[in-house]
Amino acid sequence: MRMVDLIEKKRDGFSLEKSEIEFVIRQYTNGEIPDYQMSAFAMAVFFKNMTNEERSYLTLAMAESGDQINLADIEGIKVDKHSTGGVGDKTTIALAPLVAAVGVPVAKMSGRGLGHTGGTIDKLESIPGFHVEITNEQFIQLVNENKLAIVGQTGNLAPADKKLYSLRDVTGTVNSVPLIASSIMSKKIASGAEAIVLDVKTGTGAFMKELDESIELAQAMVEIGNQLGRQTTAIISDMNQPLGYTIGNALEVKEAIDILRGQGPEDLEELCITLGSHMVVLAKKAETVEKAKQLLQEAISSGAALEKLKQFIAAQGGDATVVDEPEKLATAPYEIPVDADESGFVSEIVADKIGKAAMVLGAGRATKESTIDLGVGITLKKKIGDAVSVGETIAILHANSENVDRVVEMIQGSYTIVKEPVQRNKLIYEIFSSKIDNS
Ligand code: URA
Repeated sequence: MRMVDLIEKKRDGFSLEKSEIEFVIRQYTNGEIPDYQMSAFAMAVFFKNMTNEERSYLTLAMAESGDQINLADIEGIKVDKHSTGGVGDKTTIALAPLVAAVGVPVAKMSGRGLGHTGGTIDKLESIPGFHVEITNEQFIQLVNENKLAIVGQTGNLAPADKKLYSLRDVTGTVNSVPLIASSIMSKKIASGAEAIVLDVKTGTGAFMKELDESIELAQAMVEIGNQLGRQTTAIISDMNQPLGYTIGNALEVKEAIDILRGQGPEDLEELCITLGSHMVVLAKKAETVEKAKQLLQEAISSGAALEKLKQFIAAQGGDATVVDEPEKLATAPYEIPVDADESGFVSEIVADKIGKAAMVLGAGRATKESTIDLGVGITLKKKIGDAVSVGETIAILHANSENVDRVVEMIQGSYTIVKEPVQRNKLIYEIFSSKIDNS
């Protein structure tokens, strides 16, 4: 086989065979196909698309390009959850103990990541003592005993995807549904997921800004799940404003704790219950989504979910007393209010801009080498639909210095205030589920 022939085949709109896609991925991972040929191939896929079969071959080839996590020693159906990412997304921290409390085994690998705030692991590390450096054996034992453990991603998970993603980033080929869908699904499959719940964000703060693009991506991933025998549910959720009220590592942990106390923000709670109910059904711990929602609500009201969080934190070396005394989490020395510059109703909060403001405060990493400040961030006081008067506080900055005029301007610039009342956004737009019969 020659790479040039496969590039031409795709360029001319033909479908590739499984063996041809395997060749591309194997040789590219080994360094035998150079970046310039792989760039041309990615661009051909960008313009000519891939069939469902090709997408599943690509997913599997990338999943098999490096380490594959074997979770066979964990009892029960291992359901993984993935979010395409947004601002203020602390869902995993509440969701993981919530579903574990009703018996779903959660063996999660999470990332640190670049961006407005840290990833789930960074957020959890704002709990004194909490660590993710546990061996594979400990990981499996913890999930069997407590139904929950979270570790950092291993170095060699889907290396083909890692290499291709970096190349796509600089060749204008990130925004391709077959490439994004196979990239995300390859990592889930390599990390041992038997069933997958995807939170596909849509809106100004999301990777996919338009609803129709988000639907296309969601359906593509569910179809890959179908082809590869992994029950997959994709939920399209709103990211036209940050999720919940907090952006910043320790601040987000506090808000996740509030959810498990039954005192969290409505949008975050609805998202946790919706994603969680589908995880519970896929893990066969409830027959219907309605029944699953009931189980999750009971786990919150009985305190079982909060207890599960404490057990999880203690098992990974953390100080579980932070759950009852969240003031022990990292804090910032200054709290600076941001005031509204006009009266009316909030019609827009550009999530991306709020995220950048949090990053300027030090909550996120600009480069892999940056260190993050776990205590800083932003608490929003007003969300879309809320009434506001000029001079009223719309947000509070948790900062390390009083010199934050630029961040104040960024926050004010991300809010749009209009004279007429505004309808609140709906949170869940659509839900797609795979059609595999393995009952
Ligand atoms: N996230 C991924 O993991 N891969 C993509 O291609 C895009 C977003």
